[in-house]
Order: sequence, then C-alpha cells, then structure tokens
Amino acid sequence: MNRYIGVFDSGIGGITVLEQLKKVLPHESFIYYGDSKNNPYGEKEYDELYEIVRKIVDYLISRDVKLIVIACNTVTTRYMKKLRDDYKSMIFVGIVPAIKVACDNNFKNTLVMATPATISSERTHELIVNNKSASQNITLLSCDGLANVIESKDEVAINDKLTDIFKEYKDIEFDSIVLGCTHYPLVSKNINTFFPDAVLLDGSYGVSMEVKRQLIVHDLLNKSANQEVIIYNSMDENSI
Ligand code: DGL
Repeated sequence: MNRYIGVFDSGIGGITVLEQLKKVLPHESFIYYGDSKNNPYGEKEYDELYEIVRKIVDYLISRDVKLIVIACNTVTTRYMKKLRDDYKSMIFVGIVPAIKVACDNNFKNTLVMATPATISSERTHELIVNNKSASQNITLLSCDGLANVIESKDEVAINDKLTDIFKEYKDIEFDSIVLGCTHYPLVSKNINTFFPDAVLLDGSYGVSMEVKRQLIVHDLLNKSANQEVIIYNSMDENSI
C-alpha cells in the first residue's frame, strides 16, 4: 500500500517545500495541511502554538502517514525535540534556516530572515555557533508580520512590508540571504529587488534529501507508485 507522507505549515508557505519533495520523491504521495486559520505561527506563545501543532500531528497520524515533514521553520526550531519525545514511533523531518548552507558555501556576509520565534530560538543560535567561522558575518532579522502579509497575496502590502523591514539594511552588501521561513521563497523576486547581488538560500532541498534518506533507512521508499497529492487548508469547511 502506498502510504502518504504528511506535510504541514501555517498556511501556503510549506507549499514551497512540498514542490521540492514532489520532485525529489516522484513515487511518493503527500497529504499537505496548511493552517492558514492560525497564521502567523511565528508570533504565538509557546504553549498555545504547541496545542495547535499537536492537533495537526494527531490528524496526520489518524491518516496513517508514514513520516511527517514539518514544513515550517518556526515549528521545527521550537518543538522538534518535544515532538520526537511525545510521538516516539513517528519519523519527523523538519526544515530549519539554511545557515549551515550559507557557512559551508563560504558566504562572508549573510542576512538571516525569519519569524520572531525562529530568530529567538535556541536552535537558530546553535546553527550559528556550530557552523560559522570567525571570518563570516551573520545578521539576524526578525521579520514580524511578513508571513502574514505573504499569506494575503497582496503585492502592494508585501512590497510595503519589505521596504519597512529592510529600511536599516538596504545599504549593506550581503552576499547571501537565508530565507528562514517557508513563506519567504514565495516572494524571492520581491526580496531580490532590494538585494540584487545576494544569493537567496532556503532549506527545502536539504529537507527533501533528508526525507529520502529516512525513507531508505526505514525501508519505506516507494519505487514505482504514482504520485498523489492531497491539499487541505484549515480555512476549508469541515476542516479539523
Ligand atoms: N512558514 C512558517 C515558517 O517557516 C511560519 C510563518 C508564520 O506563520 O509565522 O516559519
């Protein structure tokens, strides 16, 4: 039987991860849950957000998924350890800001954009301490409200928000920008207009490769089935 892989995020952002997963794993099927109703996650209190996340994880488990992809940097950086403790028999793979990629590729001046919760998380600081060399510079930028504006798909509001967020940074020559929230690749063109020379990095390819590795290790990889993708959103009628 072709069991699904569960994927979730606080709305449309995780679709950027889903698209990568579909390419890297052409014979896997996916259930995507976008929690637009509770967006933004990155500005919620710790306990409140964990309750929301648990409900989604329980729902995906009720659909008999074989692995869950946390397509949300905020949830991974905050709760990955806790989820693995609370759901010992489930395999979780989560996206984190691509700080390791920026450091490994020897970028010298990196801007990390993420939600307030991701920026202040221990995990993000660990990624910097474990990967940055003395000659590399990393600036953390908490993008309050940006994921929510992206969710609205209002181009004018998105550009206004970016102008405000970048106002103190626009004259700095960053050579790379880490898109540390899965909503941000949806506006990479807009971000590029502020920093045309910077390389934009996100973690979706790394996550897809890790999912593939986990499926192989656990002997769960499909080699021939047709791909099926089911997309749910918490704004839909009858949603969980
Ligand atoms: N897309 C999410 C992330 O990667 C969170 C956006 C939000 O809801 O704040 O962090």
